[in-house]
Amino acid sequence: MNSKEAVGIKAAAYVEDGMTVGLGTGSTVYYFILELGRRVKEEGLQLVGVSTSDATTTLAEQLGIPVKTIDEVEKIDLTIDGADEISADFCGIKGGGAALLREKIVAMQSDRIIWIVDSSKMVEKLGKFPLPVEVIPYGYSHLLRLFREKGYEPHLRNVEGDPILTDNGNYIIDLALGRIDDPRALADELDHITGVVEHGLFNNLVDLVLVGDGDDVLVVEAD
Ligand code: 5RP
Repeated sequence: MNSKEAVGIKAAAYVEDGMTVGLGTGSTVYYFILELGRRVKEEGLQLVGVSTSDATTTLAEQLGIPVKTIDEVEKIDLTIDGADEISADFCGIKGGGAALLREKIVAMQSDRIIWIVDSSKMVEKLGKFPLPVEVIPYGYSHLLRLFREKGYEPHLRNVEGDPILTDNGNYIIDLALGRIDDPRALADELDHITGVVEHGLFNNLVDLVLVGDGDDVLVVEAD
């Protein structure tokens, strides 16, 4: 079994009957959703899923997991999601799969958040993974220039030369920062730039991290 599968299966055990569950996005969450689908089918587990992307909605529905929109639920008991990097003080980078906006909206409404990752994503300081920033297409070139002037080494994410569109119809600018010494200050700065819809810094939102290393899963409580 690979690490992603091991943490995905383990994460599904945290879901209890009757819960409303935030369903993250990505290749690790894929295994979590597969296992959740198995539990729904074989154990009769009752839950409502709140999806963070069109891809996750499609997968969950294919597996018979009931999905509601975030506006159809009052709150979310537990969200299980992946991450691109997690620092020693439990800040995180997300958005490698371009779903960061819905992931953050779902996270903000969740009572508890579990991230599932393999051990390569646990780092001392964030920043080796380029920080995704979701921006409104209107005026994006000026944001690219601003980020360039700040020395943030921005790259407009694209497929075959065309900017990728998020599920919300926006663009993603990835910032190749190298090392982020103060993720809280950077989040605050990005929060105040007009045209930035959301960024992939998820600072101190996570409660528990399941870290996969082959078949082994380490359970790490965030402090
Ligand atoms: C999507 C995300 C993902 O959770 C993150 O990119 C991790 O994905 P994977 O499990 O495929 O490595 O933030 O926007």
